[in-house]
Amino acid sequence: MKRPLQNDRFLRACRREPVDATPVWFMRQAGRYMAEYRAVRAHHSLLEICKRPELAAEVTLQPVERLGVDAAILFADILLILEPLDVGLEFVAGDGPSLRRPVRSGSDVDRLPAFDVETELGFVAESVRTIVGRLNGRVPLIGFAGGPFTVASYLVEGGHSRSFVATKRLMYGEPEVWHRLMSRLASLTAAYLRMQIEAGVDAVQLFDSWAGALAPEDYRRFVLPHSRAVLEPLAASGVPVIHFGTQTAGLLTDMRRAGGSVIGVDWRIELADAWDRLGSDVAVQGNLDPVALLGPWPVMAEAARGIVASVAGRAGHVFNLGHGILPETPVEAAADLVQLVHEESARLLAG
Ligand code: CP3
Repeated sequence: MKRPLQNDRFLRACRREPVDATPVWFMRQAGRYMAEYRAVRAHHSLLEICKRPELAAEVTLQPVERLGVDAAILFADILLILEPLDVGLEFVAGDGPSLRRPVRSGSDVDRLPAFDVETELGFVAESVRTIVGRLNGRVPLIGFAGGPFTVASYLVEGGHSRSFVATKRLMYGEPEVWHRLMSRLASLTAAYLRMQIEAGVDAVQLFDSWAGALAPEDYRRFVLPHSRAVLEPLAASGVPVIHFGTQTAGLLTDMRRAGGSVIGVDWRIELADAWDRLGSDVAVQGNLDPVALLGPWPVMAEAARGIVASVAGRAGHVFNLGHGILPETPVEAAADLVQLVHEESARLLAG
């Protein structure tokens, strides 16, 4: 049996229920900007932290304790599902992820081994159980996976990309191979998220971080059916599903059609405008520019208050940054921002 939550305002906002204050958490809230995280990283690689539930739990809890955020996010990575595919995944210090054997052709796709998610990635379920125990009902836990397009981009490019040339070349040039690869990733991802939900996460987020690189018609043709294959079956689980991407102003209604009860947006569109386009039957998450946290406090505070005020009176806002928190962020600024969002929204709600 799960413990009742002491702080459920994140889940309430996801369900568009009334809250006492706007909930806030940060994408990539466990990470290098925190001294506590760097201390663990000094002794363990990223993959090692992901694979040792007690370490994953420790770093997952760090921002909950230090910042007072309203949700924890499982410590893992969107690329973990690629490891059992035997593509030579490595996280290179300073360079990010790198794959020794990227997937570029139909025969590369055919060579990807079949594997059982529970067997190969069961350590993630174990992390979830450990974290839920250690949270002891303080705040909900968010599980996550990468969107099929974003994960495919790393798989095809062999690492991070700016223009996604190899990915789009495969998509346009060999659509049949592309759809085969995307179907494979979608069913893996659906099973992976189902495992996390069964292990006890309270919500999930699909990070389709790079979907905004696509023309709307290409998103609809090459990505939407696969994202929907991940998201649609999750609706029955009853847990809130956040569907996030960056630079998605032109894709919002299509992302909504793909699925998710909360849509995450970045700062390149006004939150109220995004919400108008999405419709009032969905919750929204966002959308402060992460760089604002590096600037002078009054500038950041004004931007954050502006976001809170712009959607005050509508149920269903989860405050977040528009993308992951940057390693250069002063921890103090992040903690102060959490407090500011709580105080400002509570004041507006009290009217
Ligand atoms: O949010 C959290 O606190 C949970 C942990 C988390 C990580 N990665 C751990 C991590 C989450 C949610 C992710 C998601 C992720 N991973 C995304 C989607 C979100 C986004 O930023 O768009 C992507 C694209 C990845 C792939 C990835 N992993 C990249 C591109 C990098 C290198 C870039 C970087 O920040 O160094 C990683 C490494 C990674 N994953 C780190 C962390 C904390 C870096 C820190 C380290 O090496 O210790």
